[in-house]
Amino acid sequence: RMDMKHQLVEINKAAARYFYYQLKSEKGKVAFDYLQNRGISEEILKKFGLGYSNIFRNDLYRYLSKKFDDRVLSLSGLFVPEKSNPKEYFDRFWNRVMFPIFDVHNRIIGFGGRVLGDFNPKYLNSPETKLFDKRRNLYGLNLARSSRKENIIIVEGYMDVISLFQSGITNVVASLGTAFTSEQASLIKRYTDNVVISYDSDSAGIKAALRAIPILKAKGLSVRVLRVKGYKDPDEFIKNKGKEAFEDLIANATSGFMFEVEEMNKNYNLDDPESKTKFHKQVAYKILELESEIERDNYIDALAKKYNTKKSLLEKLVAETGKNTG
Ligand code: UTP
Ligand code: MN
Ligand code: MN
Ligand code: MN
Ligand code: MN
Repeated sequence: RMDMKHQLVEINKAAARYFYYQLKSEKGKVAFDYLQNRGISEEILKKFGLGYSNIFRNDLYRYLSKKFDDRVLSLSGLFVPEKSNPKEYFDRFWNRVMFPIFDVHNRIIGFGGRVLGDFNPKYLNSPETKLFDKRRNLYGLNLARSSRKENIIIVEGYMDVISLFQSGITNVVASLGTAFTSEQASLIKRYTDNVVISYDSDSAGIKAALRAIPILKAKGLSVRVLRVKGYKDPDEFIKNKGKEAFEDLIANATSGFMFEVEEMNKNYNLDDPESKTKFHKQVAYKILELESEIERDNYIDALAKKYNTKKSLLEKLVAETGKNTG
């Protein structure tokens, strides 16, 4: 007999095939059209194994229960027990575009499902199972790891990964609808030393980037951040501006440190001397976090220029702050 994990892999594989078949069928036309409207090519749709979960309450269950035991099916995360009769199951996902989530060994470990319009919840994801550990996996890493680029780009969403990939930017991963974890940072460190964060431009995206930076740095990764100004997310940016414009953003991405300072700066008014002084003091603390003398000097230089401050004064302030904090 196959072990549990292996059976769950087989169930997910069969489910993904089923969803893909649905997408290509007449019933799935609504989802197929949705993806076409979003500019997804058939080749990419196939590459990522996208699918459709139709509007019937237990189609997938009836199909898979011919091949697998209820006991394993109930552990797959694909089904929800019926309230009135817990021995009966219905499909977790219905009327959604399905995104299989692969691990680095190309095994399907879970699914994300998107509604076909502006409804809540926008995405429904598989729950954690014996196979699906959200903290330890990244969407797209199975493809990004073999892209032979010097860095990996981290985005928020499934569609960002797919859209960038279709445009020829193939070194992209997304965390799985949760905050970025240190396990995910370790996973990335196996394949590269350099990451570029490219989150959504809204305040949630900025906050998430500020949270991810120290987690990535703690694993020894060099972190840069780019902003898709004027667009909601990398998907929208690349659709409107194209691959080269996105590559320019990567080339000009700011260091994690500068990004943090830029965000700090938004809390101060540099036209007001008192506020400006407070900003300088906070910057001094931030500079002291840098490990090497040369890094500190380089950033003092850059910050003095950027915020129009005398370098010698900033140096003094850093030195004093250092003394006071030991
Ligand atoms: P976003 O709200 O930015 O969605 O969430 P998106 O990726 O841009 O999706 P589209 O373009 O509207 O289709 C970013 C990611 O957060 C997770 C998903 O992984 C999503 O891709 N998320 C979001 C959820 O898990 N559930 C939700 O309800 C919303
Ligand atoms: Mn290395
Ligand atoms: Mn978002
Ligand atoms: Mn989007
Ligand atoms: Mn988004």
